[in-house]
Order: sequence, then structure tokens, then C-alpha cells
Amino acid sequence: MIPHLFDPAMDDVEALAECHALSFAQGWRAASLRDLLAGPGVFAFTLPQGFVLARAAGGEAEILTLAVAPPARRQGLGRALVWAAAAHAAALGAKTLFLEVATDNQAAIGLYEGLGFAVAGRRKAYYGEKDAHLLKVILPLPNPDEFA
Ligand SMILES: CC(C)(COP(=O)(O)OP(=O)(O)OC[C@H]1O[C@@H](n2cnc3c(N)ncnc32)[C@H](O)[C@@H]1OP(=O)(O)O)[C@@H](O)C(=O)NCCC(=O)NCCS
Repeated sequence: MIPHLFDPAMDDVEALAECHALSFAQGWRAASLRDLLAGPGVFAFTLPQGFVLARAAGGEAEILTLAVAPPARRQGLGRALVWAAAAHAAALGAKTLFLEVATDNQAAIGLYEGLGFAVAGRRKAYYGEKDAHLLKVILPLPNPDEFA
């Protein structure tokens, strides 16, 4: 279960869009994902049933999206993807990793808190009417064995 660093020249962005659509009411189209991946510092890690998209620049990184296909959830894939993205961002020089998560998304909040993220702020009406927490963690994350 080792996430693979997505290669925009070789790998299938349509598969990422399909996975995203299974996880979000408003899935991101393949073209949008392709455009994002072409941006500076943007990278993705994939597993057969999930992916994470992130950006690292100027000593900071952010998770742009994370999705695991519903039948594959609760098997540690989300945690493995975020850990891989955090390690890659740290290797690119990022000292902190941020993300926004809807305040009612208990699954994602549980995952992020388990990895050491803490609330650093609140974004009002970030997802339509829903608020989001801004979460932050210092990089690098501890070795994954320490989460067992
Ligand atoms: C959030 C999401 C990526 C989690 O993926 P996952 O592969 O199921 O997560 P993991 O199996 O790695 O779970 C890691 C930890 O997160 C927490 N967690 C995961 N799912 C949970 C749930 N449904 N309820 C409560 N805690 C949960 C647990 O602490 C879990 O550890 P444990 O299984 O040892 O108890 C997945 O539910 C998903 O794709 N959701 C829809 C999209 C989304 O919300 N993305 C995040 C946007 S910020």
C-alpha cells in the first residue's frame, strides 16, 4: 500500500476524476485536475482506490483534495496518502502543511487529527453555507510506525 507519485505525462487523470466524483457532490473534472497538476509545486499521490492532490511552495504546503473510494475506506488508505504527500512536501522544503476541511466531516477530521493536525482557524461559509476548519501541522510528520 505504497502511494505512487502521479506522473501527469504517463498516468491517467480520468481515473482521478472518477475517484473524486465518488467522494464529492461536485466532482472535479479531468481537465480541471490536469490544469491544477500543471501548476507550480502541485503533485498527487495515488493508490488504486484513492488519491491526494497537494501543492508545496515558499516553505508551505497545502492539501487541495483527498478522496478514497467508498468501498475502500477505513483501511488506512487515506492516512497513507496524506502521509506520502506530507513527506514529499517536506522533501520539497515545506515546513508546514495546511488544509481546509468542512466542520462536519468527522471522517476527515479524525484522519487529520490522528496525523497531528490542529485547528489553526475557521473559514466562514467555505463550502457553500458550511464552515471549514483550517488545519495545520508542522513537517516532517513522525514516522508512520509511531501512529500504530
Ligand atoms: C476522509 C477519507 C479520505 C478517509 O479515507 P480512509 O481511507 O477511509 O481513511 P483511513 O482508513 O486512512 O482512516 C484513518 C483514520 O481516520 C479516521 N476515520 C476515517 N474514517 C472515519 C469515519 N468514517 N469516522 C470516524 N473516523 C474516521 C480514523 O481515526 C481512522 O483511523 P482508524 O481506522 O485506525 O480508526 C474518506 O472518508 C473520503 O474519501 N471521504 C470523502 C472525501 C473527503 O471528505 N475528503 C477529505 C476532504 S478534506
